[in-house]
Amino acid sequence: MSDVAIELRNVQKSFVKGQPVLKRVSLQINRGEMVALIGASGSGKSTLIRAVSGLLRTDADENGRSGTVQILGTVMQANGRVSRDAKQLRSRVGIVFQQFNLVPRLSVLKNVCFGFLGRVPGWRGTLGRFTRREKQQALLALRRVGIEEQALKRGAALSGGQQQRAAIARSLVQGSEILIADEPIASLDPSSARRVMDILADLNKSDGITVLVSLHQVEYALGYCPRTIALRDGEVVYDGPSDALTPAFLSELYGAESEELFLPGLEPTKAGGHSRPRHEAHGTARPAIRVIGTRSHRLPSEYPDGQAAPAGGN
Ligand SMILES: Nc1ncnc2c1ncn2[C@@H]1O[C@H](COP(=O)(O)OP(=O)(O)O)[C@@H](O)[C@H]1O
Ligand SMILES: [Mg+2]
Repeated sequence: MSDVAIELRNVQKSFVKGQPVLKRVSLQINRGEMVALIGASGSGKSTLIRAVSGLLRTDADENGRSGTVQILGTVMQANGRVSRDAKQLRSRVGIVFQQFNLVPRLSVLKNVCFGFLGRVPGWRGTLGRFTRREKQQALLALRRVGIEEQALKRGAALSGGQQQRAAIARSLVQGSEILIADEPIASLDPSSARRVMDILADLNKSDGITVLVSLHQVEYALGYCPRTIALRDGEVVYDGPSDALTPAFLSELYGAESEELFLPGLEPTKAGGHSRPRHEAHGTARPAIRVIGTRSHRLPSEYPDGQAAPAGGN
């Protein structure tokens, strides 16, 4: 069994010929890692995630250097072609997006049961017929993410944070070995964001699920992910310990967006890194760095530290 969960070699993607938005990206993520993907808007995070998930075909090779995406030791796509194994591979990868994760008019339970689709006969899935056992498993998954009591509500009735948690439950039911999340907390308030990140961290630690999560909010990358990969204009410009990211690098990385980059309480250390409060427990820490982009995030500082969110809440 390969120890490598995700491997990209020379992956290039252009939407307009001659203007690649991913430029010869190579990286390797091992099983069991929890890795943050950061970068300014438009740097290629979503494109990279879609390429990894096999949802987007990358460019065919022109220079004899084949662009390859491998998942769990098997080729997902190579040289502009999605592999025959892609469908089977995709069932081992759970994906959570920023929004639109649930079918709004269907129950949360049924939405989670869709995680079984790769395994049940097509007609049953199409008709949305799931067995009692499958529903019980879906309920267990909802309990795991703390929203069991929302099971019979319609997807649309859930808050943003609850919808993300339901999407994570769906990938649990799917049996995902890798969980890829594209800005899963970008539209959430801080306490919901922490809950979602806590769940991802728990699945990583307790179940050994490999997590790749793109984050606009750098503070969460620093707080939750030991390793960060940073993209700028489609290129990997940093890949290493999150600890070693410096404020100077981050403000350069975020370019124009860093006009709104707040770096309170960050003192450069002798090692050239920076000191920041170590998180003692997930979810209660007050991160030291905030990147506020053009989006309307509410900031952690608007909440008292460690404030408990309502049960089954956001
Ligand atoms: N479907 C598409 N067609 C054309 N250009 C696209 C498409 N998707 C993304 N892009 C462009 O690719 C670049 C990277 O976008 P994206 O991967 O969405 O960045 P990020 O997720 O980091 O904000 C941007 O310049 C964006 O405009
Ligand atoms: Mg994006």
